[in-house]
Amino acid sequence: MADAREEFIRSLPKAELHVHIEGTLEPEMMFELAARNGVDLPYGDVAEVRAAYSFDDLQSFLDIYYEGASVLQLTQDFDDLMSAYLQRAHADGVRRAEIFFDPQTHTERGIGFDVFMAGFLAAIERAQRELGISAALIMCFLRHLPVDAAADTLELALPHREHLLGVGLDSSEVGHPPEPYAPVFRRAAELGLRRVAHAGEEGPPAYVAGALDALGAERIDHGVRAESDDALIARLADSSIPLTVCPLSNLALGGVERLEEHNLKRLMDRGVMVTVNSDDPAYFGGYLLDNYVRTARALDLTSDDLATLARNSIEASFATDDERARWLAELDAISA
Ligand code: HPA
Ligand code: ZN
Repeated sequence: MADAREEFIRSLPKAELHVHIEGTLEPEMMFELAARNGVDLPYGDVAEVRAAYSFDDLQSFLDIYYEGASVLQLTQDFDDLMSAYLQRAHADGVRRAEIFFDPQTHTERGIGFDVFMAGFLAAIERAQRELGISAALIMCFLRHLPVDAAADTLELALPHREHLLGVGLDSSEVGHPPEPYAPVFRRAAELGLRRVAHAGEEGPPAYVAGALDALGAERIDHGVRAESDDALIARLADSSIPLTVCPLSNLALGGVERLEEHNLKRLMDRGVMVTVNSDDPAYFGGYLLDNYVRTARALDLTSDDLATLARNSIEASFATDDERARWLAELDAISA
């Protein structure tokens, strides 16, 4: 039975700002889509898939994550994937989701923007109508691929510009600093797109500074490795740059050995605008509510801490002023 703290967290209006839609592909759906599309999976059953989800680091996860995405082929597949995530997020008390997708994972397989965008948008519009959840799409560039490929991807996305909230940068971080992507992010800014970037997940604090300086990132995805650089932490705190922290992801990929060692609370105590997120929940063992609940237990977070994390998530979102004011008023009524 859900305990009182879990029900309190569920009741808090929250935004999820760091979730990769391809990372919400549950093994059951992977098998269903593989059967539907005639894809051979290197696993015999769902239990074998889950057994393969034992990761040493980011790259060992990414190899399996990109392989899993191969079952996504038709518009209906992308619709089913998005729909399942939004229903789950709604059940966790998420009012707003800003959802990453990796277009290059699909275009490289010959699956075009028209195919996946139609599925994502159909699911988002339906969830908005039926559940009242607000959702928007952020397109991430894969940093293990050449910068030119990112630039080409941005041009391919232009017919869908009105359905994109922003751009991000993800995939293998170490050895792929942000600076070379500056021209692509400049072009995105000219198109009126919001800018975020993964930095400081496994990479050094310099990558976080680079994401801010070279890419104009408005939020840093992860950012936990900024902790060792006092000047950078002061900068993040003073400028209220949000970090979209993903505790169960950090645990699954070896960023921390135990959740009790996670620096989320230390970062909060130093004035950084921290948010909690799920990253790739089908792979890391928990959706948004689980991330809050397990982190709250591990770090002894108070009700005030939890309300602050929820408030940060709404303030850090790119939702309209009206939407944010509505959710903040709702939050005030619960946590005042
Ligand atoms: N880091 C980098 N790339 C990713 C991640 C992540 O946590 N999840 C999906 N792609
Ligand atoms: Zn991520």
